[in-house]
Amino acid sequence: MSKLPTDEPPAAKKIDLDKRAIEILRENSWGDYTLPTKGLYPYQWNWDSMFVALGFSEIDLDRAWTEVESLFQGQWKNGMAAHIVFRRDSPSYFPGPKIWGGTHEVATSGCSQPPVAATIVRDLYEKDPQMGEERLRKLFPRLMRWHRWFHTMRVISGGAAIAVTHPWESGRDNSPDWDEALQNVDPTGVTPYQRKDLGHVDAEMRPTDAQYDRYIKLVEYGRNCGWDHSQITREGPFAVADPGITFILARADRDLRALARYLGARDSAREIDKWLRRSQLAADYLWNDQIDAYAARDLRTGRFSDGVSSVAFLSYYAGITRPRRDAKLQKTLTRILDSAPYSLPSFDPQHPKFDSRRYWRGPTWAIVNYLVARGLEEYGFAEKAQRIRLDTRKVIQNNGFYEYFDPITGAGSGGNHFTWTAAIWLAWASPMTDN
Ligand code: DGY
Repeated sequence: MSKLPTDEPPAAKKIDLDKRAIEILRENSWGDYTLPTKGLYPYQWNWDSMFVALGFSEIDLDRAWTEVESLFQGQWKNGMAAHIVFRRDSPSYFPGPKIWGGTHEVATSGCSQPPVAATIVRDLYEKDPQMGEERLRKLFPRLMRWHRWFHTMRVISGGAAIAVTHPWESGRDNSPDWDEALQNVDPTGVTPYQRKDLGHVDAEMRPTDAQYDRYIKLVEYGRNCGWDHSQITREGPFAVADPGITFILARADRDLRALARYLGARDSAREIDKWLRRSQLAADYLWNDQIDAYAARDLRTGRFSDGVSSVAFLSYYAGITRPRRDAKLQKTLTRILDSAPYSLPSFDPQHPKFDSRRYWRGPTWAIVNYLVARGLEEYGFAEKAQRIRLDTRKVIQNNGFYEYFDPITGAGSGGNHFTWTAAIWLAWASPMTDN
């Protein structure tokens, strides 16, 4: 990333934040894996953990590799790397391992999460190839199996875009992107349960009860069909093509391809090339001309979500470009950036469903900012990338290491002392990373 302007806070404050970010990583570290934050999320979460590895790679590369390795203890026989690895039961979280009723030997949830792992593994490996080689050799087949799982189990025949079969799989639980498809999930008969998240965080910042009923109903459906992922995608109550996962996987495929080259793994490289050839088709399917952006699309009805989510701008990160379309996408991005002082809002502030405090319906997330800006920078949109980076820096400097932030006021929201926000600070947002 290019050099920053000089309007920065005094050096003392910078040093404190760097130190505090390291403390957060260490405090939330449980041996070989890291909690997103104590209380609210007391286990290992898939993509959280990979951003944590990125943060650790700034201070302790060995620990960063260990974080990735521990995540794959939760990999199923069919290749899926689960979205939560439980290992133990914690009373502070619902739904825990018993509700998911998984069949894997280490208790896990039954769906996956955005596959940032191969990209992070490439980053770790390239920092020190000598140190990473053996570890990469062990992880590479696991990454291949996971990506193959997405390309077979989460694609509806004839399509190429990646489906999520539970909003939790997208990592963007209550995004308006899922509203319409979620409406078609009938919550009648859901087993009574008690939410635990509201004991940690203000209800206004979390999904609604009506959404939770449907989240749990979807878990019950998966459990009742023995977590047959192919059936869930083909026939389950919820299957939505997600630009977030589709673009993150396309990027991760490119990085996996580079890793295959490093290892001389020719057969794998050929298989990845096939996946990569489909990513443009997937992007075409997700382009919504009505809003000049990529958008989620209900695979049961073909209908688009009608609002712009921040993941729409991950097409650059994925390496997908279409010049005429990109001109429109850039206009959309400029409009969104101009409508929120603390970019990048997770949902369009000009849309009636925008809610500046409620989780994925508006708030700014440091991890998405990092991914979007990384792609923009690579495609020559350095100014916008830098603007997003400086906004991320400012919002953390002013408010601390929150889970997410109000894009209008900058107020910290959700969990505090949040590991992935600290990790993104260390790896990308801190002035320490300027050079
Ligand atoms: C939660 O419990 O809020 C998580 O986002 C599920 O992954």
